[in-house]
Amino acid sequence: MKILFVSSEAVPYSKSGGLGDVAGALPEKISESADVTLITPLYRNSAKTPQGIKKLYEFKVRISEDELNCIVYEAEKKGNFRVLLVSNDLFFAREFIYGSNEREYHDNFFRYLFFQNSIVQFIIKEGEGYDIIHLNDWQTSLLPALIKEETSPVLSKSSTILTIHNLGYQGIFEHYHFKDTNLPGYYFTPESLEFYGKLNSLKGGIVHSDRVVTVSPNYANEILTSGFGAGLEGVLSHYSKKFSGILNGADYNIWDPENDPFIFQNYSAENFNRKKENKISLFREYKIPFKKETPLVVAVTRLASQKGIELLMNSINDLRERDIDFIILGTGEKEIEMNLGKLEKKNPRLKFFKKFDEELSHRLYAAGDIFVMPSLYEPCGLSQMYALRYGTIPVVSSTGGLDDTIDDINGRAGTGFKFREKTSSALSTSLLEAAELYKLPSEWEKIAMRGMGKDFSWSKPGKEYLKIYRQLIKEK
Ligand code: ADP
Ligand code: GLC
Repeated sequence: MKILFVSSEAVPYSKSGGLGDVAGALPEKISESADVTLITPLYRNSAKTPQGIKKLYEFKVRISEDELNCIVYEAEKKGNFRVLLVSNDLFFAREFIYGSNEREYHDNFFRYLFFQNSIVQFIIKEGEGYDIIHLNDWQTSLLPALIKEETSPVLSKSSTILTIHNLGYQGIFEHYHFKDTNLPGYYFTPESLEFYGKLNSLKGGIVHSDRVVTVSPNYANEILTSGFGAGLEGVLSHYSKKFSGILNGADYNIWDPENDPFIFQNYSAENFNRKKENKISLFREYKIPFKKETPLVVAVTRLASQKGIELLMNSINDLRERDIDFIILGTGEKEIEMNLGKLEKKNPRLKFFKKFDEELSHRLYAAGDIFVMPSLYEPCGLSQMYALRYGTIPVVSSTGGLDDTIDDINGRAGTGFKFREKTSSALSTSLLEAAELYKLPSEWEKIAMRGMGKDFSWSKPGKEYLKIYRQLIKEK
């Protein structure tokens, strides 16, 4: 079985959020049972410079009227797994992946159309074909239509599967971009790519892929309703037979306090008492006054309204007289960054790191007592799984994948605090409950260790994806 896994970001090369983590782990996991190629753009600010990079192909890709140069490099190859990087300096040699915190790049449509057309050309050039082409999010969602319109037999042998990581980002562009796809006119209809007069990339992926998966079972149900479907609930319901939810996994090769090279002190459930050294060292490094009895609440997050930052800011303000410290690491929407900066100035109990910093994120998962994630919606969420592994008890809203992964403290085998109403008072109540429980160290440790013992590794989701691949091949 030959799989081509296509993603606009993948760890260790690039990452803006959970998609990068997933694409960095799932394909390699699947390569234990199949032949897997991961293909992703080569950005200028690649987090890791590819080692021993080998040029495989160079060819022209047509976008609208232009012929643009594309180079495909092989960045890694071990056993059944290889990583290919698609390079074009005009589109990808930039400071950011999708744009700055003020605006997305104005030509994102062209950037990812180029990426997708490059993949079509690459498959034809290579000439062997793939049984499965696994797509991720809107940046790759035009591929099923583009592939259908190619006559080459190497393409017609492939089945396509699309994973939706977040319905909040659909890749909606002005109608006149449709002509740049070179697709026949009948694709621009309400049954296909058209969406309220515009071109909706993700919708095209849902309609034309052979299978559609989203990243948790609960979110798969939620997005069939108008509250969560972001306008695509009708399309998803229409295609419900080919649609399901598979919970993401966590890559414990990277996210494990026992072997994490970034944290001050390694620890595990066997020596949980060592965890606190991480908080002591972090406080020392940033000259934050340390008190053993004071719980530390951490958040590591994109600063987007999805993440419920507004609720969090109100709660921090409400709880300012309480004995609770907060540290937030995040970047994103400029206005949220500014408001958090203002709140930090007013509130000595809050430390705000306005940056994207992989190392610091590990240190915060390790140093925190409580991990807060008050999302308004959450397709899966990986951060709360990492928090569990680091014995940092999650306080989460009960939505999407957060609901699927955290068991409420009030149940029999609780691992965290869940609140239902998406209000700052509900969040404050949960944070206060957590702070109360923190005063009972033996109770606290019991819950933290229960969370550390949870297994959210990629084994189970990997098997579920493989099962779908096999079904698709059988149906072809
Ligand atoms: P999403 O994909 O919606 O951002 P996830 O919880 O699935 O949410 O994944 C977020 C990932 O991004 C986690 O690996 C988290 O640690 C990381 N992350 C988010 N913000 C930052 C930041 N400012 N610095 C470092 N890592 C971050
Ligand atoms: C998205 C979602 C997040 C999910 C991640 C990986 O960015 O917002 O919930 O965990 O993708 O699938």
